[in-house]
Amino acid sequence: MSGERNPLLPYRATIREIIPETGDVKTFRITLDNSQAAAGWRHEPGQLAMLSVFGAGEAMFSISSAPTRRDSLEFSIKRMGKLTRALHEMEAGGRIGVRGPYGNHFPYEKFQGKDLLFVGGGIGMAPLRSLIDFVLAAENRPRYGRVEILYGARSYDDLCFKAQLLDGWHKKPDTVVYSTIDRAEARWTGHVGFVPAYLEKVAPRPEHKCAVLCGPPVMIRFVLAALKKLGFADDQIYSTLELRMKCGVGKCGRCNIGAKFVCLDGPVFSMAEIAELPPEF
Ligand SMILES: Cc1cc2nc3c(=O)[nH]c(=O)nc-3n(C[C@H](O)[C@H](O)[C@H](O)COP(=O)(O)OP(=O)(O)OC[C@H]3O[C@@H](n4cnc5c(N)ncnc54)[C@H](O)[C@@H]3O)c2cc1C
Ligand code: FES
Repeated sequence: MSGERNPLLPYRATIREIIPETGDVKTFRITLDNSQAAAGWRHEPGQLAMLSVFGAGEAMFSISSAPTRRDSLEFSIKRMGKLTRALHEMEAGGRIGVRGPYGNHFPYEKFQGKDLLFVGGGIGMAPLRSLIDFVLAAENRPRYGRVEILYGARSYDDLCFKAQLLDGWHKKPDTVVYSTIDRAEARWTGHVGFVPAYLEKVAPRPEHKCAVLCGPPVMIRFVLAALKKLGFADDQIYSTLELRMKCGVGKCGRCNIGAKFVCLDGPVFSMAEIAELPPEF
């Protein structure tokens, strides 16, 4: 018998802090209860973990904190149905289950030496935030070029991670943040309009650049069209696929597209890789 841990067995974890992001999104900062497990936990930007609430079920979430943050893990979760409602009703000190990390990660090794463009919409900022904070961490920053972050939400109240978005990231070296909301509001002095149209207006140049996208499918579709118009090639564009998952370890067949398992081969794919997948999703 090997001493390896069963990858389907959750760790017990405690919610340390709950940060309201929007009316229906909260960020949960958690720590694993077992100090050995906490010290041994390693994740990469873009990876996933399965969270469980006793009596409510479990679901897969992107880890929204960067691996450079070692004292805790964060998950930014939108209230949708049974499990996420149960999570949203919990308070600091509550106990949950965590298994993972699962999946591949954003290829930050390949991104080295390049400029980076992040395009996010709504809760889609969760996986991007892990990579953005990783790239902007002082120990990693010199390995990357200019960072541009374009993020949009329906309204001011729907913008996630406001502290970093409006008053944090743009203070980092060679980093520009563009934020937008769909419709004008009296308290908003920034850009108004949809993300793809704003992207065309900002018109980032494609040379020596990789673009990383995450957001609702309709936003992704129009952002892809905008990036193509701007001259980005499929192998310069990365996104995540969010197929519903059950096991997270390539056993149940819930998340496969052709021969690819999104929980193992993904969730991160380049557009060149997505173009090779059968049109089953
Ligand atoms: C790879 C991956 C990463 C994810 N990362 C995050 C994250 O960082 N933050 C976050 O809030 N959520 C994330 N999700 C979604 C999350 O796993 C749950 O599916 C979602 O929160 C709903 O869970 P629930 O049990 O509360 O709702 P349920 O009771 O299962 O469903 C509520 C309603 O939402 C619909 N629904 C549920 N999940 C999806 C889905 N994936 N796509 C389309 N419709 C759906 C259902 O059909 C139903 O109508 C991710 C999913 C995947 C697969
Ligand atoms: S979730 Fe079971 S195979 Fe991917």
